[in-house]
Amino acid sequence: MFSTTNTRIAALVVFLFISTVAHASSGDRAIEFVRCVSSCTTQRCDEFEETKPLSLQLTRWTCPDDCKYNCMHNVTDHAVTDGRAIHQYYGKWPFWRYAGMQEPASVIFSLANLWAHLVGFKQVRRKLSDSHPMKKLYLLWSVCSMNAWLWSAIFHTRDTPITEKLDYFSAGLAILNALYYTVIRLFHLYQPARPKLTSGTSISKPLTLLFIGIYAAHIYYLTSGPRFDYTYNTIFNLTLGVLHNLLWTLYALPSGLSLLRSRFPGRPRGYRPSFASKAGLFVALTTAATALEVFDFPPWGRVLDAHALWHAATAPIAYFWYQFLVQDALDQSWREPLLREHRT
Ligand SMILES: *[C@@H]1O[C@H](CO)[C@@H](O)[C@H](O)[C@H]1NC(C)=O
Repeated sequence: MFSTTNTRIAALVVFLFISTVAHASSGDRAIEFVRCVSSCTTQRCDEFEETKPLSLQLTRWTCPDDCKYNCMHNVTDHAVTDGRAIHQYYGKWPFWRYAGMQEPASVIFSLANLWAHLVGFKQVRRKLSDSHPMKKLYLLWSVCSMNAWLWSAIFHTRDTPITEKLDYFSAGLAILNALYYTVIRLFHLYQPARPKLTSGTSISKPLTLLFIGIYAAHIYYLTSGPRFDYTYNTIFNLTLGVLHNLLWTLYALPSGLSLLRSRFPGRPRGYRPSFASKAGLFVALTTAATALEVFDFPPWGRVLDAHALWHAATAPIAYFWYQFLVQDALDQSWREPLLREHRT
């Protein structure tokens, strides 16, 4: 996600974790739950449609879904009174729904991330001049991130095969986009501010085609198989996120340790404004937030779990990341290649 984008990988880390750990503790296979659902569907489903409240109609709850929901909480109630462990159901913890939303906390925090990206989008648009070579790239990433968080909010409202895929595909696009602008920014592959002075062929064109190809192959692989490959999807996103963070770590390293040829356009290797440290802080915060996801725990009050807390953490991180990106883009060095061209 993650900013944001790259922090979205954390969700995917969890899937690796959940798919191994939670299988052992899957509440949806417990006999008490299965019996409850079957008696509920036979007894209650005839009248359910007539009494369904508007919120459940809008969020498209079916009677079997509603039975599973109520049975999940009943079984969990028994587990709590008997002091037994709380289990997951269909890969998720039992949450109290609100207005038809399955995971209201994650919905709210996804919307908080969406808002953080919207604020960031406006800042980039206002503070960077139209001729800045990074402006369009940041705005593109911002739009991809807003799209990803919108689908995250929808997915946490109602988990269906379609909302799940749209959430994953949007997240993958946002993460890939974050890596894309990072490579262009850090290796100076952007188009110069004044294209007239150059031949017109952009170095970043093959790179753009490569990234489009990677995304197309990714979606093709995930949609062509008999079932969704969660493990592959996790590794894909995790790899991109780690690469993104490693690159910004290189940027943040002290002057003497820099492996990048030059951090800023036309500047020597040693040129390092103090705000470069912010990128390192960002990587540290993102990694810490990811740890929240890996150390999953049953939700507090059936409301707040590690995944929701992780979404809560990424929103301020995204906000902070935009401040940094704008500061980086406003560095004096971006204006100097132009001056030099004028002088010669
Ligand atoms: C859950 O428990 C309550 C209270 O014991 C009961 O009224 C309700 O019918 C149960 N729900 C299901 C779906 O079994």
